[in-house]
Amino acid sequence: INPFYSRHFLRLMDFTPAEIQSLLQLAADLKQAKKQGQETRHLQGKNIALIFEKDSTRTRCSFEVAAFDQGAQVTYLGPSGSQIGHKESMKDTARVLGRLYDGIQYRGFGQYLVETLANHAGVPVWNGLTNEFHPTQLLADLLTVREHLPGKTLSEVKFAYIGDAHNNMGNTLLEAAALVGMDLRLVAPKACWPHAELVAECQALAQQTGGKITLTEDIAEGVKGADFLYTDVWVSMGEPKEVWQERIALLKPYQVNMAMVKLTGNPQVKFLHCLPAFHDDQTTLGKQMAEQYGLHGGMEVTNEVFESAHSVVFDQAENRLHTIKAVMVATLSKTL
Ligand code: CP
Ligand code: NVA
Repeated sequence: INPFYSRHFLRLMDFTPAEIQSLLQLAADLKQAKKQGQETRHLQGKNIALIFEKDSTRTRCSFEVAAFDQGAQVTYLGPSGSQIGHKESMKDTARVLGRLYDGIQYRGFGQYLVETLANHAGVPVWNGLTNEFHPTQLLADLLTVREHLPGKTLSEVKFAYIGDAHNNMGNTLLEAAALVGMDLRLVAPKACWPHAELVAECQALAQQTGGKITLTEDIAEGVKGADFLYTDVWVSMGEPKEVWQERIALLKPYQVNMAMVKLTGNPQVKFLHCLPAFHDDQTTLGKQMAEQYGLHGGMEVTNEVFESAHSVVFDQAENRLHTIKAVMVATLSKTL
């Protein structure tokens, strides 16, 4: 029996360092098999429910294509159109969907919701983003890091995350760094640092894995020698409109631009972003914010960096597919 069989995927810290490495290896193997046209269908006859209480492009499409590639069927339940939340509790939803489906993906608000689903569904539940964590994203990010630093192990990587480190990405990066033993610098104003409790938990694990976790407001110190610069939006899904102004004022100095790229001192430094990104005025919200706050040419990242040779964001987006596939295959297959 494979050690992941029938387990949930709710947050990275539910797994051991060795388990994270083996999920990454499985993703790499599945990616190679697909590219060579030699994919084995491990999920034939399975039915998958995809609950999205927040919008998505990458996560939804990755779950769907991964399921189809592997021979499974999916049902998409969007932010409206089902009974979830307004008319039926998560506990009851879990007990219903658990009778019909072999696995359930959940994207939504509090982590407690995905935990409630997991506690009552009786089938594997996968976290496709909550306010607190985005664990499938981090698997894709780590796979991308592996691919762009051939010959280096993840524990040798210097990784700087700049911007809102108080959100799901900041939290999940902390966990990931601790698990793989990376040198992670969270570069952000103190008001945007993750909760001290989570930092302490991850620092304790990092001591065992050889990782190093630094929180700093000092941009030059934080990005020095970095192999990767990573940022995310300054206002996350579900946050009220009112926070934009304050967040922009706080984070403006932390924009990833060419000056910051140069500050790393590493001409080969790579740029990562989970996407979607505000890097130009081509979206309705991006345009509105650019006009309102005078941020033409990019918000958390400039268009110049986003479109440069440093940027590997679309490799990263593709890797959502292969890593999400690995999570489903690992948790739904008795043997691998
Ligand atoms: N990165 C990510 O989760 O993208 P979506 O919101 O499009 O799923
Ligand atoms: N922090 C972002 C991540 C999107 C993938 C959000 O929660 O909106």
